[in-house]
Amino acid sequence: MTASGLLDRIADVGRDRARGGYSRHAFDSAEAELREWFTAEAGWLGLDVETDRNGNIWAWWGTPGPDATVTGSHLDSVPGGGAFDGPLGVVSALDAVGILQRKGFTPGKPFAVVVFAEEEGGRFGVPCLGSRLLTGSIDPDQARALRDPDGTTLADAASRAGYDPSRFGPDREALSRIGRFLELHVEQGRGLIDLDSPVAVGSTVIAHGRWRFSFQGQGNHAGATLLSDRRDPMLPAAATVGAVRRIAAGVPDARATVGRLVPTPGGTNVIASTVDLWLDARVPGSGLTEALVEDIAGAAREAAAAEGCTVTVTKESYSDTVAFDGGLRDRLSGVLGGVPELPTGAGHDAAILAPHVPSGMLYVRNPTGISHSPEEFAEAADVDHGARALADVLEDLSR
Ligand code: GLV
Ligand code: MN
Ligand code: MN
Ligand code: MN
Repeated sequence: MTASGLLDRIADVGRDRARGGYSRHAFDSAEAELREWFTAEAGWLGLDVETDRNGNIWAWWGTPGPDATVTGSHLDSVPGGGAFDGPLGVVSALDAVGILQRKGFTPGKPFAVVVFAEEEGGRFGVPCLGSRLLTGSIDPDQARALRDPDGTTLADAASRAGYDPSRFGPDREALSRIGRFLELHVEQGRGLIDLDSPVAVGSTVIAHGRWRFSFQGQGNHAGATLLSDRRDPMLPAAATVGAVRRIAAGVPDARATVGRLVPTPGGTNVIASTVDLWLDARVPGSGLTEALVEDIAGAAREAAAAEGCTVTVTKESYSDTVAFDGGLRDRLSGVLGGVPELPTGAGHDAAILAPHVPSGMLYVRNPTGISHSPEEFAEAADVDHGARALADVLEDLSR
């Protein structure tokens, strides 16, 4: 089945009727359905499926072993996300295996398709959770204690879904089997439209992180409390949203976003007692993202003090700038015949793996240039072109 045909098969899973697009999150029913679907598709290709101690799924073509060529991506989404971010890399991997099988190719090295768990952090807040746990880049106790917006811990959600969270943690065996990792992904910007190319090889992923700003004030009555008597945390929160844009605009190539802001208790006629907002900040280079966040935190503290409120700032995740493996990049470009190279501002499991194993990425053109939105798109012809390109490079890498 072609990659575009496989995408059609899961088009109804996890649709978000309220927000539009898809909401597929770790250990929810949509994600479970996609895991079952993946297991069945891999089974039809004769692959042997196993789930590792961190909930990542591995489908092996032949015997599992060291120096494996591994490809894959993720099946979860952001809230109200698109159909391609994640699933495109998974369906393309399955399509690529089918293409290679039909031409009679047998890998000379171990070969696996992987689906990483909770790549977006859409439910528990930390992106690339499955690959971070696997590589030991997050403490398993910290991971187990993460909470979703309803207050459910990762440990409880995992247990209810039939996983054993006590096993979460660094997986030396799984990591040591990966000889090289390649992730195909929909492009999340306008690079390939402007270059007029259906695919590109990934060059770098810029540093990125998430910080929680928690403003505390005094909850009170919206009608009975004089303006002069208020300590309303919404005011410094709103001022901070403005400061994020103002301060980031002064830093070359910085991106900074407040996409989530939660007042508690959240009533129209209630002055909030606390407001939490989450800052997503990304600046190319090393150390510059933290410096940007420190400046924003200073503005937040000033705005909080002016309203008689306080603010605490907590780093929830951070990943440094990553350059993908030079040898792998050259090899991909060689096989694909000089396709362009593109940097990205989006995070990926490939970037979490990159410090540990040679890793690389392929991007497929997105004619809207939009991602993390229902408008994210890829033409079926480009999707299938991407899967054939992936098959070509996998053949070269696993001979
Ligand atoms: C993940 O897609 C991210 O970079 O936000
Ligand atoms: Mn994403
Ligand atoms: Mn993704
Ligand atoms: Mn991502």
